[in-house]
Amino acid sequence: MKKFKRYLVTSALPYANGPIHIGHLAGVYIPSDIYTRYLRLKEEDVISICGSDEHGVPITLKARKEGVSPQQIVDRYHELNKKAFKDFGIAFDIYSRTSNKIHYETASDFFLKLYQKGEFTEKTAQQYYDEEAACFLADRYIMGTCPHCGNENAYGDQCEKCGTSLSATDLINPRSTISGVKPVLKETLHWYLPLDKYEPWLKKWILEDHKEWKVNVYGQCKSWLDQGLQPRAVSRDLDWGVPVPVKGAAGKVLYVWFDAPIGYISATKELTPDWEKYWKDPETRMVHFIGKDNIVFHCIIFPSMLNAEGSFILPDNVPANEFLNLENDKISTSRNWAVWLHEYMEDFPDRQDVLRYALCANAPETKDNDFTWKDFQARNNNELVAILGNFVNRTLVLTNNYWNGKVPGRGVTDKYDNEVLAEIGNIKSNIESNLDNFRFREALKEAMNLARLGNKYLADTEPWKVIKTDPERVKTLLNIALQITTNLTIAFEPFLPFSMDKLRSWLNYPEPKWADAGNTDLLKPGHQINKPELLFDKIEDEAISKQIEKLMNTKKANETETTKVVPLKPVISFDDFTKIDIRTATILEAEKVPKTTKLLKLKIDTGNDIRIIVSGIAEHYAPEDIIGRQISIIANLEPRKIKGIESNGMILMAEDKDGKLVMVSPEKKTANGSTIK
Ligand code: 2FM
Ligand code: ZN
Repeated sequence: MKKFKRYLVTSALPYANGPIHIGHLAGVYIPSDIYTRYLRLKEEDVISICGSDEHGVPITLKARKEGVSPQQIVDRYHELNKKAFKDFGIAFDIYSRTSNKIHYETASDFFLKLYQKGEFTEKTAQQYYDEEAACFLADRYIMGTCPHCGNENAYGDQCEKCGTSLSATDLINPRSTISGVKPVLKETLHWYLPLDKYEPWLKKWILEDHKEWKVNVYGQCKSWLDQGLQPRAVSRDLDWGVPVPVKGAAGKVLYVWFDAPIGYISATKELTPDWEKYWKDPETRMVHFIGKDNIVFHCIIFPSMLNAEGSFILPDNVPANEFLNLENDKISTSRNWAVWLHEYMEDFPDRQDVLRYALCANAPETKDNDFTWKDFQARNNNELVAILGNFVNRTLVLTNNYWNGKVPGRGVTDKYDNEVLAEIGNIKSNIESNLDNFRFREALKEAMNLARLGNKYLADTEPWKVIKTDPERVKTLLNIALQITTNLTIAFEPFLPFSMDKLRSWLNYPEPKWADAGNTDLLKPGHQINKPELLFDKIEDEAISKQIEKLMNTKKANETETTKVVPLKPVISFDDFTKIDIRTATILEAEKVPKTTKLLKLKIDTGNDIRIIVSGIAEHYAPEDIIGRQISIIANLEPRKIKGIESNGMILMAEDKDGKLVMVSPEKKTANGSTIK
């Protein structure tokens, strides 16, 4: 691996419009913190950058809903989130915010530099305008029916049901989310980043030069690049954000995804006057930690901006994670389906490391994963308490009991001792190779293997029995156990910083260094250790049941809410009803529509014919699970093209207000083509 002179670690700037939950921690902030702590232990020159992302339409919408200013919203969540990160030991060198003056200046200058270099294209386009509210409607200020899947609540930038990126003008029956009125089209000027122009460069930089990126990241980039890139507007007609710093741009601000990543630069400037060496020297390794929904912005758009600007380095790696679910359901802020960090702190004070451990051990590194409270309890009781805590406790207690806490010398070692001593070095190199390649789960497993090794060593050699017959032998046994314990404080430091601080204070070993890991003489004979307390304690069933009950209550409240909120459509005549031809049919074949996440292409036997229907159900059903299923379809819907495929009809699905879909199937199998009335 190339040797770098210094490291710049960035973690996605969370929007300051809601609190931080375990999904954020597992996906972004625990990995970035482990990586940074590891580099610090290696005494590398590293800085870790984060802060609040304080612009964007969701923030202004929330402010409007609460009747407060956007600044009040971001002030509230900036403080809450800053504290949550600190409470969990996420040791950023700075937690800044994009409403700072330095950020406004940096983002403005960046825009101006590209503007002056002629990198932008300027275009006047027709955009929706709310005549009642007297403003243009950017992104989520506009809703309407998705032309691809018929979802009536698609946003102006994306349909969350079928995942298609949209332009507001694609929407059928558009409506303003401010006033509810039908908007009109009006000319407006914007600046575009010509991503199509950068495509050949991006293809080489990512697809050829960064084959080592994680499969999920590389794959998503490849799919974007294969589809062909389009120019992206980098300005918006809004009054919340960094003003576009050129003439004729009154009432326009930078698009939030243009200014937010520049936030990494402004936060570094705020942190140190020496910021340029982190951003401009090719011997710096820049690593962006993000969730999978941010891949395009960090791998395609921001690098294009940096490259166009010309004086900055590019990320060397972007180890994005997939998503974490909670008890088999998507984490959702609006449905309150989450474990919020500030609430966890109230329920489990002083147990931050347990959550850090459970989230890392089960991190969504290669696929979406599930957090369950039962797994959390098992990780604590069966691993942290029974393996790590147990080993450390026995070693320290025996040393205190037999020699008043003075480290005994190691006498003659036998074959087993020598094998154990050699193993300590192997584990160190295994942890390293995993951390260097962003495999945090594996690295954590290796650290736990060191504790397992120690536990087994004590169980096999039984110093508490041998002490009666051969106290000299016990000195060797405990010397080795103490060297393992000291190594553990290094190996686990990036993962469990609070517990390792405690353990080091009991060992009187204040300064861990990665270079010392694997060393089997870290504590010299005669070194005085202190009396230990328990490193971890058991989590009882009652505490877990309480958490599960809390989630069940949330679920119940959501269900009541769901049945309450979907309003009925206006009454239709019987004649209108009879125009719809609903039939039973059977799915013969099913496959994913390439380059989409939500669409399945289904071959259907309708009794009358065999036809293709494209349906937005890929996130709810795996193709292999639905072949042979009998379903209900609207058989006489006019054909329409979805992603270039002609779809002939629509499958009936029951949908709750969060878009969860289940098929509407006849109770018993019936002949295909049976009418449904
Ligand atoms: O997805 C998000 O939460 C964004 N606020 C992340 C921004 S990362 C960076 F570009 F600032
Ligand atoms: Zn759609």
